[in-house]
Amino acid sequence: MSLPQIRIRQTDDLELVADLDRQAFDDCWLTEEELHAATWWIAEVRQDGAWQPVAYTGLEVKGNGYWVFLARSGVIPEARGSRLQRRLIAVRERWARAHGCTLAYTYVHWCNTRSMRSLVHCGYVPYRWEVDTNGKVPTRFIYLSKTLSSGKKQDVERSCEGGSPAAGPHGEAYT
Ligand SMILES: CC(C)(COP(=O)(O)OP(=O)(O)OC[C@H]1O[C@@H](n2cnc3c(N)ncnc32)[C@H](O)[C@@H]1OP(=O)(O)O)[C@@H](O)C(=O)NCCC(=O)NCCS
Repeated sequence: MSLPQIRIRQTDDLELVADLDRQAFDDCWLTEEELHAATWWIAEVRQDGAWQPVAYTGLEVKGNGYWVFLARSGVIPEARGSRLQRRLIAVRERWARAHGCTLAYTYVHWCNTRSMRSLVHCGYVPYRWEVDTNGKVPTRFIYLSKTLSSGKKQDVERSCEGGSPAAGPHGEAYT
């Protein structure tokens, strides 16, 4: 599928996000809680004079408002192959910077090469998450982060001091 014209817009249509999620993933679909926790965008392509949704993505603000967690992204199978995920990363970073966030983080399943390539291309680097929120060492996922603004790392550190390490991406491991 060629993608001649694309637009990405924020949406609060959670049913549409859930529908795209079911098309992008075979299983493990977003829960109601996850749907309501995030801010969502959809990507649409123009076909025969109408805009058709083909992808979605979300983010959650964490770390006392300084961090964003890049939540789920999906591109429907027919629209894959045009590096749309990279654009969905960029749109969330723009939103995060505009809202004063200085760091973005996410995780990727160890065998999800497509997603990993998109994240690496966009400048995300791996870090070690000592334990997850259940106190277990994660094994199947690789955690990645990116500093969004230069010269503001102090702000990130300050937010670590005031918050729960389990709620944030790095604890003391961040360099
Ligand atoms: C992951 C996903 C969003 C990527 O969609 P996309 O932006 O259309 O990705 P593309 O097909 O353009 O491929 C992205 C990269 O992976 C590479 N790639 C594609 N197929 C590949 C394969 N079979 N093996 C290895 N690399 C592959 C592409 O070459 C590209 O890398 P490059 O830019 O360095 O050349 C999409 O595949 C998807 O929705 N998958 C199911 C849901 C999912 O896994 N979401 C991400 C985790 S939340």
